[in-house]
Formats: sequence, C-alpha cells, structure tokens
Amino acid sequence: MSLATIYKEIKHELNAIEKLLETVVEADQDILTQASSQLLKAGGKRMRPIMVLLAAQYGERDREDVRKIAVALELIHMASLVHDDVIDNSEMRRGQQTVKSRWDNRVAMYTGDYIFSRSLKLASEIEIPEVHQILSHTMKEISLGEIEQIEDQYNWTQNVRTYFLRIKRKTALLMAISCQLGAIAAGAPEKVCRHLYYFGYYTGMSYQIIDDVLDFTATEKQLGKPAASDIKQGNVTLPTLIALRKENTAERLMTALKKGDKKTHDWDAIIQLIKDSGSTSEAEKVSTQYIKKAYDQLTYLPQTKTTKHMERIADYISKRKY
Ligand code: IPE
Ligand code: IPE
Ligand code: MG
Ligand code: MG
Repeated sequence: MSLATIYKEIKHELNAIEKLLETVVEADQDILTQASSQLLKAGGKRMRPIMVLLAAQYGERDREDVRKIAVALELIHMASLVHDDVIDNSEMRRGQQTVKSRWDNRVAMYTGDYIFSRSLKLASEIEIPEVHQILSHTMKEISLGEIEQIEDQYNWTQNVRTYFLRIKRKTALLMAISCQLGAIAAGAPEKVCRHLYYFGYYTGMSYQIIDDVLDFTATEKQLGKPAASDIKQGNVTLPTLIALRKENTAERLMTALKKGDKKTHDWDAIIQLIKDSGSTSEAEKVSTQYIKKAYDQLTYLPQTKTTKHMERIADYISKRKY
C-alpha cells in the first residue's frame, strides 16, 4: 500500500490542512517565516494529520476543530524536528538543508519555539480541556524522550527496555494522540477513542523502529535526511542493541567500539558488522509484531471504510522504504 493511495482518499481535507499550515507559520519576522516555511514546503509525509483526519471519521462533530488538531500536531512534530536536528547535528531534512544548517543553532532554537507557539495558538482555540491536558503531557514526554537520548548517547550497554521507553516517548505517543485527538475532536465514543489511541501507539512504535532500521539500510537520497548517522552520533537503536546481543557479533562489535574514541572509530566497519549480523531484519520483525498489535486494535472498531484505511496506514508503515 502506497501513501499516495491514502492521500487520494482524503485529498480534499489534506489540502485544507496544507493551507492552514501555510498561514499559521507566517510571522512578522523574515527569518522565522523563511525557516518555518522552508521546512513546511520541503514536504514530509504528514503522517500525523493523516491519522487525525482518518480518526475523525469515527465521529461526526465539528470539522473545524479536527483541522486545528491536525495542524497543531504537525506543528508539534515539525518543531521537534527542528530541535532534533540541532541535537543530532543533522544537515539535511526532507531533502533540504536543515534550519540549523542554513542558519545556525540559535535560529533553530527559536524557530522550533516559534512553531510550538503557533501550535499552542491553534490548540487554545479548541474548547475541550482534555485536549490541552493530553497535548501538554505529550510535549513533556517528547522532551523527556529526547533528553534521555542525549543521556544514553554512546552507552552501548544500555537495556533494550530503555530503548523502547525512549521511542515511546519521542515518537509513539504523538502518533497515539493523533488518532485519539482526531476522534475526540469529532465526538467519537470513548471506547473508539481508546482503541484508536492504542492503534496509534503501536503503529508509532513500529514507525520509529523502521526509522532506525532505515538509518542502516537506506540512502540519504531515499530518506531526504542523513543515513548511517544514528550510531555515529551515539544513538543506540534497536539494530545495534540486537547485534550487541548476538554471539558471533557482540565481541567484535564491542572491541571495535572500545578502540579509540568516537572520532577515530572505524564507523564504516562497525556499521557493516551490524548489517552483516542480520539484526536489521530482526528489528523489522519486532516492528511487525507492533503492527500486528495495531491491527488487533482495529478489530474492536466498526468495520467501515475508515477502518480499512487505518489498516492501509499500518500496512504502509510496516513496509515503508522512506
Ligand atoms: C521523522 O518523522 C522522525 C520520526 C519520528 C521517525 P517522519 O518520518 O514522520 O518525518 P516527516 O514528517 O515525513 O519529514
Ligand atoms: C525522532 O527521532 C525525532 C523526534 C521525535 C523529535 P530521530 O532522531 O530518529 O528522527 P530523524 O531520524 O532525525 O528524523
Ligand atoms: Mg534525528
Ligand atoms: Mg532517525
């Protein structure tokens, strides 16, 4: 299942989201407008708005609120990317120069904050207190996830559970609430909102695992962002953790990681060792297990056309190549 098919189904609503995104990032200040619009126009898959829009089809209330939630969530995502590129020292995002690279880290800090503030403005227009509580909790968790990533950098002996908690915080929760808030804003029944939350959570876990696999297996051209960069930045992801637990690889890998320091490690050899260990396909299997859990949540929902689209999203996420 390609994303194009899903886009086609909700083209009309997605166009309205794009327009709103464009207008809300416009600032009275040139750099802020340029930096935010550059990232916006560079594209991105718009996974979170898609989830919001589809989840909203389980209810029938106010399309205006749904649109605001979709835009607010894409903005939170974008702001976190602008900050993440500072932390990960990344030059490329969505096939374009990152804000930190075209300008600098200081501009990236405030561009991220500015985009957050635009999200807050839209969210504040939604008169459902639960929505605000969920958003603030998720933003707190994303910050925790990202700071934990900094704390655990180059810690090769970390627990696999630490990794799962980290990706829950930095990625899966935002997808969980994209589904949940879309449904809440549209007035869907409580039970539906809950199952959609878990659907988003499990697909979000799978999404980040695949992102971490693609960092090893895809090219910069395919991804529109640097490849083979997580491990060099000391970001210990699932393929690395699995390789470090493999009898034939662990010792050689640890020896390579202990020799010299991060500037002198033979990173190409280290990456090759991880790829040769087969750990990326094992990580893919873990991602597939999460997708199965996501599918399972859908069985509790009304078996409608929307639920079919949700299945397609899960299918896309499990097979995505970029
Ligand atoms: C990138 O997210 C960061 C992760 C959570 C893996 P996306 O892969 O959704 O990025 P865009 O929005 O399409 O650029
Ligand atoms: C996701 O992590 C970033 C956020 C959730 C903010 P990554 O660091 O893996 O994302 P990419 O690979 O830079 O897109
Ligand atoms: Mg990053
Ligand atoms: Mg990544």
